[in-house]
Amino acid sequence: MLIRRDKWLQYRILRNGSSLAARLPETQLLKKNALTKMLLQYQSVVLKPRNGSYGRDILFIKRNGASTYRIQNEKNVITMRDINTLLILFRKKSSSRGYIVQRRLQLALIQHKPFDIRIMAQRKKGSASTWKVTGSYAKVAAQGYLVTNVTSRTIPVLEALNLARIGGRSLLVEAERIALLAAKRLGERYPKLRQVGFDIGIDRKRRVWIIEGNYQPDLRPFRLLKDSSMHRKILWYKKH
Ligand SMILES: Nc1ncnc2c1ncn2[C@@H]1O[C@H](COP(=O)(O)OP(=O)(O)OP(=O)(O)O)[C@@H](O)[C@H]1O
Ligand SMILES: [Mg+2]
Repeated sequence: MLIRRDKWLQYRILRNGSSLAARLPETQLLKKNALTKMLLQYQSVVLKPRNGSYGRDILFIKRNGASTYRIQNEKNVITMRDINTLLILFRKKSSSRGYIVQRRLQLALIQHKPFDIRIMAQRKKGSASTWKVTGSYAKVAAQGYLVTNVTSRTIPVLEALNLARIGGRSLLVEAERIALLAAKRLGERYPKLRQVGFDIGIDRKRRVWIIEGNYQPDLRPFRLLKDSSMHRKILWYKKH
């Protein structure tokens, strides 16, 4: 079953499950007003294509004082005086494709590199089945990147939490709880949905955030983990 990748639609679905609202970084469709307002409120925001881009077309924008903006895409950084210039450059792109603007999270760091967590949630066939967490790992961004799609390494979550000196098992349990709530919500909306790979962020204040849920998650990283038990469990759930 194929569900369209649409970050804006997914945000609204999750947002309406009120218990998750506080776990979602504020998100708007990209428009001049929304961008200006969010930059005033948060200082740093992220622009992302609605339909995903494996991290490639994502822009991080930071307001420096009153008059300049720092803009980063992949490893490239430029400074702009006027956000309107950016919006004009973007107009063509965003009208053809659609972008969202989202509050930037200050993700926890491992040796100065941000990381986030992939949590795999699945359910068996049949309408009465409940969602389970079948696997997880942490993705550490490559040097110079702010997105974790370009990874320097994937490691077990507990190891990442430990390296980041940010917490232990209870933080993983909390992240899993939130992923399951989100899976449940998406499962109500899409009765045939059976797997979601969530990108979960942990900020420097140990707060847990839902970045997005992927309906066709890449399973390769699970295959490459030293411990193969998660990969086997995931394949079992896919079959049953
Ligand atoms: N609001 C944010 N604050 C900080 N970092 C973010 C934020 N949104 C995204 N990121 C980083 O960028 C990465 C990619 O973002 P996201 O998963 O939303 O898009 P994507 O991977 O391009 O989408 P898709 O998987 O649909 O191709 C995240 O895993 C995270 O590391
Ligand atoms: Mg992603």
